Amino acid sequence: MTTTVGETGGRAPVSSLADLERAVTERRERPAYGEDALISCDRLVRIFTADGVEVQALQGLDLLVGKGELMALVGASGSGKSTLLNILAGLDVPTAGAASVGGYDLLAMDAKSRLRYRRDVVGFVWQQTARNLLPYLTAAQNVVLPMQLSGRTEGLRTKRQRAARATELLGMLGVGYCHDRHPGQMSGGEQQRAAIAVALANNPAVILADEPTGELDSATGEQVFASFRTANEELGTTVVVVTHDHAVANAVRRTVAIRDGRTASEVVRHTEVDEHGQESVVAREYATVDRAGRLQLPRDYTDALAIESRVLLELEPDHIGVWPDRPKPARPETAEAQEGPEAREAPEAE
Ligand SMILES: Nc1ncnc2c1ncn2[C@@H]1O[C@H](COP(=O)(O)OP(=O)(O)O)[C@@H](O)[C@H]1O
Ligand SMILES: [Mg+2]
Repeated sequence: MTTTVGETGGRAPVSSLADLERAVTERRERPAYGEDALISCDRLVRIFTADGVEVQALQGLDLLVGKGELMALVGASGSGKSTLLNILAGLDVPTAGAASVGGYDLLAMDAKSRLRYRRDVVGFVWQQTARNLLPYLTAAQNVVLPMQLSGRTEGLRTKRQRAARATELLGMLGVGYCHDRHPGQMSGGEQQRAAIAVALANNPAVILADEPTGELDSATGEQVFASFRTANEELGTTVVVVTHDHAVANAVRRTVAIRDGRTASEVVRHTEVDEHGQESVVAREYATVDRAGRLQLPRDYTDALAIESRVLLELEPDHIGVWPDRPKPARPETAEAQEGPEAREAPEAE
């Protein structure tokens, strides 16, 4: 996107040396990008080459996820969701950029730490129910297996301790009655909930799920999603779910949309209580501003104002105005009416 900045409408002038020094200090003291996030993706790029043809699955994707978040990733088929999840799961390595989860650098891990990362830091739930559980083991045995493979011993040294944890996890997720059943004796929803128990076996920091309700009807999907919520609330596990399911996407506090290998927008929901004590969920949609300050304007907005290759920007005390690039940009009368003339000190750009 090309933008032009109006001559006087650009950034506010720095008036004195003291101001300049303060600005520099503030910038230096600002925490580094993603410093306190559990998951941090910084300009992540993943290029696949197949038969000499390059596919840019991720094109500089930025994403921060805080510890304890329960969030959804949405986006059209082919937008890069699975590519991102596979990278976060430690199954694939990005071409460029930076990515870290729980202090593990996903580009610099050696084979040994990659193995430890996949066993102990992340749990994964796939869409295909058959891919999550071994068919010849019972649900409880499936949950015990990752504990046996893990080098971690705290509280799980004995067979009895591991069996007790498996029972506890299956019970917590509402499938305690499937303890001794094989996957073939369980419904799709029961298998997915047992799969969440398997993913939680080694108490990971994060659970990643790629369309875990994609093969289920919506009522069953809701039950499976409730199990993710339970894991998040009871154990504090951070949960990232890729979903096409609107019910799931609407049930989380934060939904990030991926478009063409980049995070494009996100919806954040919070509960408001009105004067009658009535609770309602308020959703706000935000556009993503990337690390370079790039912002994608929604197509219906640019169409409505016939915005093509460039716009005029004006910095206001509390917002940025974006005006179509016309010979004489119309004054934003409504904005002026709201703010009063004293709110605008700079003369109009001509
Ligand atoms: N292993 C691969 N080899 C070549 N291209 C791939 C590979 N994996 C994914 N892609 C391509 O990368 C893009 C993103 O795919 P994907 O991450 O699976 O999207 P989504 O999960 O959002 O549907 C698609 O164009 C897909 O064809
Ligand atoms: Mg996918």
